[in-house]
Amino acid sequence: MPDIESLLKEKRTFKPSPEFSRQANWNKRTTNEYRKLGAKNPTRFWAKMARENVEWFTPWKKVLDWKPPFAKWFVGAKTNVSYNCLDRHLEGENAWRRNKAAIIWEGEPGDSRVLTYAELHREVCRFANVLKARGVKKGDRVCLYMPMIPELAIAMLACSRIGAPHSIVFGGFSAEALADRINDAQAKLVVTADGGYRKGTAFALKTTVDAALEKTPCVETTIVVKRTGEPVAFRSGRDLWWHEVMADASTRCPAAKLDAEHPLFILYTSGTTGNPKGILHTTGGYLTHVTTTFKAIFDIKDEDVYWCTADIGWITGHSYVVYGPLSNGATTVMYEGTPTHPGPDRWWSLIEKWGISIFYTAPTAIRTFIRLGDELPKAHDLSSLRLLGTVGEPINPEAWMWYHRVIGRRRCPIVDTWWQTETGGIMISAIPGAVETKPGSATLPFPGIHADIFDEEGKAVKGEGGGFLVVTHPWPGMLRGIWGDKKRYKETYWGKYKDTYFAGDGAHRDKAGYFWIMGRIDDVMNISGHRIGTMEVESALVSSPDVAEAAVVGRPDEITGTAIVAFVSPKDTAKPGPDLVDRLKRHVAQEIGAIARPAEIRFTNALPKTRSGKIMRRLLRDIASGREVAGDTSTLEDFSVLARLRESEED
Ligand code: WT7
Repeated sequence: MPDIESLLKEKRTFKPSPEFSRQANWNKRTTNEYRKLGAKNPTRFWAKMARENVEWFTPWKKVLDWKPPFAKWFVGAKTNVSYNCLDRHLEGENAWRRNKAAIIWEGEPGDSRVLTYAELHREVCRFANVLKARGVKKGDRVCLYMPMIPELAIAMLACSRIGAPHSIVFGGFSAEALADRINDAQAKLVVTADGGYRKGTAFALKTTVDAALEKTPCVETTIVVKRTGEPVAFRSGRDLWWHEVMADASTRCPAAKLDAEHPLFILYTSGTTGNPKGILHTTGGYLTHVTTTFKAIFDIKDEDVYWCTADIGWITGHSYVVYGPLSNGATTVMYEGTPTHPGPDRWWSLIEKWGISIFYTAPTAIRTFIRLGDELPKAHDLSSLRLLGTVGEPINPEAWMWYHRVIGRRRCPIVDTWWQTETGGIMISAIPGAVETKPGSATLPFPGIHADIFDEEGKAVKGEGGGFLVVTHPWPGMLRGIWGDKKRYKETYWGKYKDTYFAGDGAHRDKAGYFWIMGRIDDVMNISGHRIGTMEVESALVSSPDVAEAAVVGRPDEITGTAIVAFVSPKDTAKPGPDLVDRLKRHVAQEIGAIARPAEIRFTNALPKTRSGKIMRRLLRDIASGREVAGDTSTLEDFSVLARLRESEED
């Protein structure tokens, strides 16, 4: 979390260059006009965007139906996301896009594939027919557990084509985590691959699926893409090869005319309890939000080659690798592997090789590359770049400046985009041809987005000041609920303030009205731009036979933003020591996935608690952030004194 003092001392500003503004999709004039309209009449603004940027089979009867906290956008309208991403680029005046690259894909070993819009359309239709043939009907959930290969995008677009909501589970999640998500969504079909490539080696996915399916009676079929060629077990009647079922599938499959509020996908994200939440997004509003923001913020032109480095397993990949770019008819780049394989300059050679002009990545990646030195990017021709973006966590001004100087060569505007899995699309960001930027600030809410800062009592902070980030008016890409849990939806997002969305982030607004996001204020950690709940890691730890009790906190980390520190009180039978540390780290990775692996495990006799039994996280955070004593990970700490000192304060 950036320190507020240093952020508020940040005085550097960067005006859009006249050359950029002149060619921008949204210049100062249009942006100001939209800002005014969006402030006064958000529904009219979004209706205008929906008409201009999305194709509808049937118009809406009402733009917004808002019965807090339940929103319906474009009521009565019919559309299809897959149609907007594909078919509309093949017809009429857009027909020239048939042979434009839709997806440029590069595998980690260096193999590549380019799919034109016409080809992608054919593949999507074929896979949609495969799904139908396996009994997948409108409304049925399909789970995608895949590496970053074109088939993942094809499967998503096939699902949305027939109205079968997808639930994508990031390939780094464990069998346990996968099974929970499959069961929660009651998915009837799983699409996976034998494996994928990371860090130069093949990792298995099908094996993990097999383990998960031991616990998921709802799954009838799995479809497996052959990617690595590693041997996999096949269960006859259940498991099918992608290439075999695709071979004779028809390339014709009309897009279903779906209600604007038809579920598009579920995506699980961590919250403050041990159970992840299935965030539900629907069709028309989400499509309007991502299409509009992509066009305005990434300033997309038909000549651009756009690359967002996020994995499709996260919301950034859903909205800004696949749906936003394709619905704009853009060329989107997908890269399968690790940033530093086979060499630490892989990303820069990708930019050079494909002539990438718009590049969107995360602060944690930027910090990794800073550490690797300026020589690597400097050795590559990055002159194709014209616009840069960041997302996922607050970016410290120094990382922003490096990005600006070394990657953008001082020519490229930077858009720092704040949003969440729940918001569906970008909420706060600069418009690159219109808004002056400041290193470390996400700048201003997007037109039509009513973001604000509230104090503890729910009063809006006027002018300069800090507090909780909220959204006071519904927006089209907003989550429609938590799958199967209305109560949690109401409590988590709408329980703190009346009819106002509570984001869970702290924020500060400066005199000019610019937003400076300070990070999570709840028990959710942001690890390399990914959300992990402290409770989730705690429940994984206590599921080990060696652990009596565990408390997990985050501490600042130079590269990943936050690192996980676990305070563990072992059972009497356990032997605290380096072996147990290793075992517990592996256990968490197995229960949740590698991203949740604690950086540090510290043993303690007892955890500091308040009289009412609440773990004193603030205290643990202080201790975790304090200077580390080398090799001290296995010493037993006695918090009782400290705990007594803090008791009155926390209770
Ligand atoms: C949380 C959402 C949708 C983006 C990928 C992460 C943090 C996101 C920024 C930013 C400061 C940011 C927030 C937010 N965050 N973007 N530009 N500046 N913080 O999605 O996993 O749903 O996490 O990421 O804390 O609440 P997510």
